[in-house]
Amino acid sequence: MHFPKLSPLQCRFTVSLAASLIVLSVYLFLWNPHLAYAAEIETPSPASPLIILDHYALDLTDDLEDPQDVDDDQDAQHAKRAVGDVVTLGGSNVPGLLNIEAGNTTIWHFSNASLWAPYANLTDGLPSSIDDGDTGDSGTIYKRQNPSTRLVYISVTTCLQPQWNGSTNQTTTPPQLTLYVSNATSNKEPGPNAPANRQVAITLNEGFANYSMNATTDIYMSVHAPEVPANFSGIWNYEIAASIDNYYHGAHPDSPFLYLVDTDTHAALLVTNNLTQANPNETTYQQWMNLTSPFTVFVQPTLDRSLDGMRNSYCGMTHASINNASSSVQSGMITRGLGHKPKEQFYIQELNGSTSYFGVLAMEGNSTKTGSGVVGGGGQVWQPVSFKTKSDNNCALVFNLTFCHDVAYAVPSNQDRYPDQPSLSAVYDSYAAGLYENFAKSLDQIPCNTTLSAQYSPAKNCDDCADAYKQWLCAVTMPRCEDFSSPLPWLQPRNMGQKPINSSSSSIGSMPNPDMFQQVQGQLDQQYIPMTSAPSDSDAFRQTYGSVSATNSSRNPSIIVDQIAPGPYKEVKPCEDLCFSLVRSCPAALGFGCPDPGRGLEVDYGQRSDDGQVTCSYLGAVYYLNAAPTVSGTSSLAVAVAVVLSLWILG
Ligand SMILES: *[C@@H]1O[C@H](CO)[C@@H](O)[C@H](O)[C@H]1NC(C)=O
Ligand SMILES: *[C@@H]1O[C@H](CO)[C@@H](O)[C@H](O)[C@H]1NC(C)=O
Ligand SMILES: *[C@@H]1O[C@H](CO)[C@@H](O)[C@H](O)[C@H]1NC(C)=O
Ligand SMILES: *[C@@H]1O[C@H](CO)[C@@H](O)[C@H](O)[C@H]1NC(C)=O
Ligand SMILES: *[C@@H]1O[C@H](CO)[C@@H](O)[C@H](O)[C@H]1NC(C)=O
Ligand SMILES: *[C@@H]1O[C@H](CO)[C@@H](O)[C@H](O)[C@H]1NC(C)=O
Ligand SMILES: *[C@@H]1O[C@H](CO)[C@@H](O)[C@H](O)[C@H]1NC(C)=O
Ligand SMILES: *[C@@H]1O[C@H](CO)[C@@H](O)[C@H](O)[C@H]1NC(C)=O
Ligand SMILES: *[C@@H]1O[C@H](CO)[C@@H](O)[C@H](O)[C@H]1NC(C)=O
Ligand SMILES: *[C@@H]1O[C@H](CO)[C@@H](O)[C@H](O)[C@H]1NC(C)=O
Ligand SMILES: *[C@@H]1O[C@H](CO)[C@@H](O)[C@H](O)[C@H]1NC(C)=O
Ligand SMILES: *[C@@H]1O[C@H](CO)[C@@H](O)[C@H](O)[C@H]1NC(C)=O
Repeated sequence: MHFPKLSPLQCRFTVSLAASLIVLSVYLFLWNPHLAYAAEIETPSPASPLIILDHYALDLTDDLEDPQDVDDDQDAQHAKRAVGDVVTLGGSNVPGLLNIEAGNTTIWHFSNASLWAPYANLTDGLPSSIDDGDTGDSGTIYKRQNPSTRLVYISVTTCLQPQWNGSTNQTTTPPQLTLYVSNATSNKEPGPNAPANRQVAITLNEGFANYSMNATTDIYMSVHAPEVPANFSGIWNYEIAASIDNYYHGAHPDSPFLYLVDTDTHAALLVTNNLTQANPNETTYQQWMNLTSPFTVFVQPTLDRSLDGMRNSYCGMTHASINNASSSVQSGMITRGLGHKPKEQFYIQELNGSTSYFGVLAMEGNSTKTGSGVVGGGGQVWQPVSFKTKSDNNCALVFNLTFCHDVAYAVPSNQDRYPDQPSLSAVYDSYAAGLYENFAKSLDQIPCNTTLSAQYSPAKNCDDCADAYKQWLCAVTMPRCEDFSSPLPWLQPRNMGQKPINSSSSSIGSMPNPDMFQQVQGQLDQQYIPMTSAPSDSDAFRQTYGSVSATNSSRNPSIIVDQIAPGPYKEVKPCEDLCFSLVRSCPAALGFGCPDPGRGLEVDYGQRSDDGQVTCSYLGAVYYLNAAPTVSGTSSLAVAVAVVLSLWILG
């Protein structure tokens, strides 16, 4: 069996060379106070690289301004008074990057020539626009207006903000910049001191603001920095752009568009939502699957406050200390999961155990090209998704399996015995595939591919049965694993009879929970009542955690207990509807049945919740998306059974 070998990690966080240079420049400016002002000056061609100059060069901006402005006497005076403060943007989709000190205002000018320049050439864009539930303002929509006005898209993002320098932990976020856009030709110096009825003021939200207006001639905007409050120090750096095509920067603060699949102690698996609802036979579907990695993801420990105040800024994400060099991400297009639609998956490794993080879906530039001259070249970010890594070191993420290809979650593991993902997956996957072979032989005996009237059921055929069996088999042979220390009420303790992995011998490092052995020992003699609905005289009321296989052993002991030996863990039980669906879909001759309530159902299977928690395991589960399924007629499933699909025999 072939398992994909993990290729050397590619760090998607590395931004393009141009962007890296910007970062470098920003830091250089911080380290060299005499170079503290950087301006983006007008560049003749939209495709020219960014030029960042120190403040001695700012005088040039006057020379580069449109002749029209200099013609105007009053304007020339203003320009003199505010030397270094009026900067003309290099054109549509050409951003300006500037440092700004507390209390200062920089005026930006989008010239009439830029406004009436030709529109950017239409590009194919992404295979289809994504439906992220956001009444967003991004995407490649090119508005061709009536010829007397032009719609201008203005956007600002914070790239750097004052840092906390207090002696205590950071308690507040730095204040936000404000964007002013003049809406009257008489107001050529918008800002906090200009008349409010001749301008629009927008305070940035988490480092982002945008505004669109119909314009006929030159546009004046400004960015104003507030005073720096106590315990913060430093300056801001921001990027501003105006475009006649679409917003250069994008933010979708109300839609994560990203979901947590599962975590283990060192890694997390995230997927985007469906990128299209197209069927596999449609071009859109194939085009999406042909892309390598249209999105990227930023990950940051929740405790790290450096991004607070810039969470809507792609530029801020690339500049903040996010994704230290040791973290790494593998991404790729998949169709796994509900509906089997194209999605992008992110496998984020080298995380710390027992730590809260947030992940942010982002797009670098327009996804294929970034930076000046590109419509949407400033990138986009979505809403952060928080998650916490596991602590006990005996659950490991598996995905990309050959047989159980819809499995993607943490399973019981032991890093001493199976140190990498492919070797662990192989044990489980080949075991499941072997069991399926036996089933397939039995199914061959059933008249499946006959005329409808001869089928065992008018509604179900053998393919339905095979499919339901595979779903059930994969979910049951590969239990979904959680920390033994997790207190979540729907989890089932398993394998308490086995010693925890001896962490001192582990090359990976010690288990974060060294007193687990004592915890488990202390619980073994406690009374264990799995099913309150069991008959009152049954053994169900006379057992302890140590005496019953449901808690002291594991599903599939020959694999999990003997081969993998993960020690005590907790299990997210498979969803009961997987069992019901199997019974419903398969011919009665195969003799499938599910345990009854009070007779084993509760220890074997879990129930779905509709609050977005994964309270039971099914293939394709992601957090905060799974809604309760419409399982019809569960009571009618009390069919006569020959074999009960129960792995547990009480007491
Ligand atoms: C920012 O404001 C300070 C104080 O008002 C002033 O000294 C400095 O020159 C200003 N910086 C710029 C770039 O205008
Ligand atoms: C702006 O440019 C347009 C098109 O080039 C021109 O017709 C118009 O006169 C210009 N407006 C000003 C105020 O220069
Ligand atoms: C659009 O494409 C044409 C020909 O392909 C090219 O000459 C023109 O410069 C392009 N326009 C822009 C704004 O890039
Ligand atoms: C991104 O922009 C470049 C240059 O403008 C263009 O060639 C490319 O098709 C665009 N990509 C997408 C996905 O829109
Ligand atoms: C400050 O943060 C650290 C973790 O970064 C935490 O351990 C500590 O308890 C915090 N201190 C206070 C006073 O909140
Ligand atoms: C400019 O915008 C302000 C704030 O929205 C508004 O009150 C004012 O009427 C506008 N002025 C013009 C000339 O559109
Ligand atoms: C710009 O003008 C068009 C009609 O020409 C109108 O539909 C649109 O709402 C206007 N947009 C703004 C932001 O004023
Ligand atoms: C594509 O497949 C779907 C079912 O998967 C079918 O309904 C549709 O007709 C097919 N379309 C084409 C163009 O073959
Ligand atoms: C996907 O890529 C393959 C190989 O590069 C190519 O043959 C195929 O035409 C592409 N499909 C679409 C829909 O672009
Ligand atoms: C998982 O499979 C997808 C699609 O085949 C691939 O792009 C990705 O690199 C694989 N991931 C790993 C970690 O093997
Ligand atoms: C994707 O689409 C399917 C239906 O086609 C839906 O059930 C599912 O919830 C969607 N989202 C994800 C992340 O699977
Ligand atoms: C039924 O027949 C179809 C094609 O004729 C085949 O693809 C399928 O595997 C068969 N199903 C079973 C269960 O044999």
